[in-house]
Amino acid sequence: MSTHDPAALLALAAETGQEAGRVAAEGQAGIAVLDTKSTPTDVVTEMDRSVEELIRKRLLTARPDDSVLGEEGGRQAGSSGVRWIVDPIDGTVNYLYGRPDWAVSIAAESGGEVVAGVVCVPVRGEVYTATRGGGAFCNGEPIHVAPAVPLEMALVDTGFGYSSARRAQQAEVLRTVLPRVRDIRRGGSACVDLCGLARGRANAYYERGLNPWDWSAAALIAEEAGARVGGLHGAPPNSELIIAAAPGLFEELHDLLAPLGADTDG
Ligand code: IPD
Ligand code: CA
Repeated sequence: MSTHDPAALLALAAETGQEAGRVAAEGQAGIAVLDTKSTPTDVVTEMDRSVEELIRKRLLTARPDDSVLGEEGGRQAGSSGVRWIVDPIDGTVNYLYGRPDWAVSIAAESGGEVVAGVVCVPVRGEVYTATRGGGAFCNGEPIHVAPAVPLEMALVDTGFGYSSARRAQQAEVLRTVLPRVRDIRRGGSACVDLCGLARGRANAYYERGLNPWDWSAAALIAEEAGARVGGLHGAPPNSELIIAAAPGLFEELHDLLAPLGADTDG
């Protein structure tokens, strides 16, 4: 078995993610803001940092030559060709407010392509997993996106950035999108949104301004569950814009968003 075997990478990610999720869940009550990042509402807790340290330690103890990109700790170089992409707590504001929708996200990239991903949602007892070409699962059961519906019948998840200027533009985009769809949800964790889409809890998802740690594991899970996931005009998912939906609905939502400047700050 190759050291880059996606199943082996997934097993390590799943074991590590579940341990990290247990630690974070035990620490949720009484958690406080430790620091802020891009804006005063972009918060970090002590748990974001300590859980990321735990994840790095577990991954690099098992595979010392790998590299890691994490939301809190940045880049750590390695030589193996495998890179781990880690969000210790996606949905930190939900975590801070005692809400259930936050997750630990760990993706494994080999040769520049995400080949395995796990998203653990501890409060909901849900562990989402996927390997490229191997399907998507929740707690070991196969999951699939809901069949495509017309845009006007679509329940659409989205999210907003932390800067006021970006939010003003996101609100402008929403003014056009909201009257054209069944309804909008703002759950507060990009990777929980994408995993929800992967199991049919929404029909579509779009968001501007995410980072690779927010989407890498969950985008693979959504793709393996049957979603099309991408940016504008055939681009792969990127920080400008990510769109995910069943094929057919993806194109309808894409064509609505493209002329609205959904990939810009106005
Ligand atoms: C955030 C969440 C949120 C999304 C933001 C992200 P964080 O991640 O995924 O749903 O709208 O854009 O930054 O800061 O909680 O890890
Ligand atoms: Ca995040």
